[in-house]
Amino acid sequence: MGLLTSSFSFQLPALGSVSPVYGVGLLILSTLLLAKVLSSLFFRSSRNKLPPKVWTFPLIGGVRKFMKGPIKMIREEYPRLGSVFTMKVLNRNITFLLGPEESVHFFKAPESEMSQQEVYQYNVPTFGPGVVFDVDYSVRMEQFRFFSESLRVSSLKGYVEHMVLEAKSFFSKWGDEGVVDLKSELEHLIILTASRCLLGREVRDQLFKNVSDLFHDLDNGMQPISVLFPYLPIPAHKRRDEARKQLADIFAKIIKNRRDSGKRETDMLQAFIDSKYRASGRYLEDHEITGLLIAALFAGQHTSSITSVWTGAYLMKNKQFLEPVLNEQREVMSRHGDKLDYDILGEMDVLYRAIKEALRLHPPLILLLRYSHKDFMVKTREGNEYRVPKGHVVATSPAFANRLPHIYRDPDTYDPDRFTPGREEDKAAGAFSYVSFGGGRHGCLGEPFAYMQIKTIWSHLFQNYELELLSPFPEIDWDAMVVGVKGKVMVRYKKRSLKTEQ
Ligand code: HEM
Ligand SMILES: *[C@@H]1O[C@H](CO)[C@@H](O)[C@H](O)[C@H]1NC(C)=O
Ligand SMILES: *[C@@H]1O[C@H](CO)[C@@H](O)[C@H](O)[C@H]1NC(C)=O
Repeated sequence: MGLLTSSFSFQLPALGSVSPVYGVGLLILSTLLLAKVLSSLFFRSSRNKLPPKVWTFPLIGGVRKFMKGPIKMIREEYPRLGSVFTMKVLNRNITFLLGPEESVHFFKAPESEMSQQEVYQYNVPTFGPGVVFDVDYSVRMEQFRFFSESLRVSSLKGYVEHMVLEAKSFFSKWGDEGVVDLKSELEHLIILTASRCLLGREVRDQLFKNVSDLFHDLDNGMQPISVLFPYLPIPAHKRRDEARKQLADIFAKIIKNRRDSGKRETDMLQAFIDSKYRASGRYLEDHEITGLLIAALFAGQHTSSITSVWTGAYLMKNKQFLEPVLNEQREVMSRHGDKLDYDILGEMDVLYRAIKEALRLHPPLILLLRYSHKDFMVKTREGNEYRVPKGHVVATSPAFANRLPHIYRDPDTYDPDRFTPGREEDKAAGAFSYVSFGGGRHGCLGEPFAYMQIKTIWSHLFQNYELELLSPFPEIDWDAMVVGVKGKVMVRYKKRSLKTEQ
């Protein structure tokens, strides 16, 4: 589950009242209507024009339309209503801002105008108390600072060493040739790596099974229904709460041991142990460290493994884009042999664009949400100006925006060259043309980590194996909370040495 989002992540307080039209006399009704029409004709001012509405059944509002899948709904409504429109879901107005110009305010507005806390509340029982969406913005800001400090380049270099070792040891178990489900293999490798880089050596070496089982329960405790009712007493939620408790116990012991022994490690756990709140000067409490580590794992794990799978699938299918990737690996090997580290991975631009393009077509977080605390104006690409009232949930969609044809040529086609100097379609319409990692005030803090992780995997695989996709090209699993690949992705591999082939 992403730290933040899902296909329909927003909090819906109790059902609102539905206005009874019945019993109102026809005459009064038509008079009212006439008055409304007239006033809208004569006093039409853009400062008061609300975005067009998606037609929905009264009562349950857009629930049905929304449950069929937000992307399907957006694809249907966009041609009719344009790039900004409102949809009623239960008692909530959700306003969609679809496109790089339209979503500027979404990404850049200060927290006092556009906030995350309300719409991402459902994460609280998973992450635990005292962290992220359970705390005030001032504290949350400091916690985001802990994340970004733990992920800065100096630390990242150490994490990459772990990534490389994990990948080598993982694939060494493959043998010379065989057939695997790439999806489950990469999921597994990424949780091993995340354990090592984020949760630390103790978990990776001694408690991997315990902790990954507990994370599994946390993960399963995040169901679509949990978004609406995070505390509903269902078995999945009970297991989630139990797992959360046990994780806290495990981490409390590990943290105590580290503090007592004075031994230091290169991992996110260590970074959090060493971090201090500026406002109070205090160190983080154990339960806060546990919560932030859980949040990091939720933000980074499925997102990265999904992106790895898509990248591999596209390259195996499109030989014209695989060849340049392999050539780049050959060049890199001619300089560095089979060594991989932060700087060497940084030289792999072709591989980078191949990943970025897979992620453009398949952002795992398909919908990003905020809660609007203040009216704001938005101008659409079609030239309309609307006022979005406070109290609306505001949504933008990487999955939709990343495929807009006025930004991306042949938007549904896999073409990593669209990012090359000269084309740079991802910058065509400003900073928010490419939003797989969000952007602006709350852009992903783990982006460099994610690229390092995925590059490590594919660099190692391409340098050492010939790969063939046996399954049909994968379909999108729209029903998942973090949208990924449906079914298995069977791949045949055969050991080879890239260098000697040339
Ligand atoms: C391919 C992998 C990844 C994708 C596609 C991704 C995507 C995103 C997106 C779209 C957001 C913005 C959410 C919003 O605006 O509501 C975000 C935020 C965030 N991501 Fe990632 N992410 C990835 C990997 C990671 C990793 C590996 C980590 C940490 C190790 C991470 C940590 C975070 C954090 C802490 C935030 C919150 C930033 C904030 O709200 O200020 N992400 N990510
Ligand atoms: C949703 O918008 C309508 C006007 O279009 C308004 O009457 C209603 O109060 C709004 N509901 C909420 C919860 O903001
Ligand atoms: C880890 O799991 C093993 C076996 O399932 C169990 O014996 C052990 O007590 C667990 N350790 C912790 C710290 O929970």
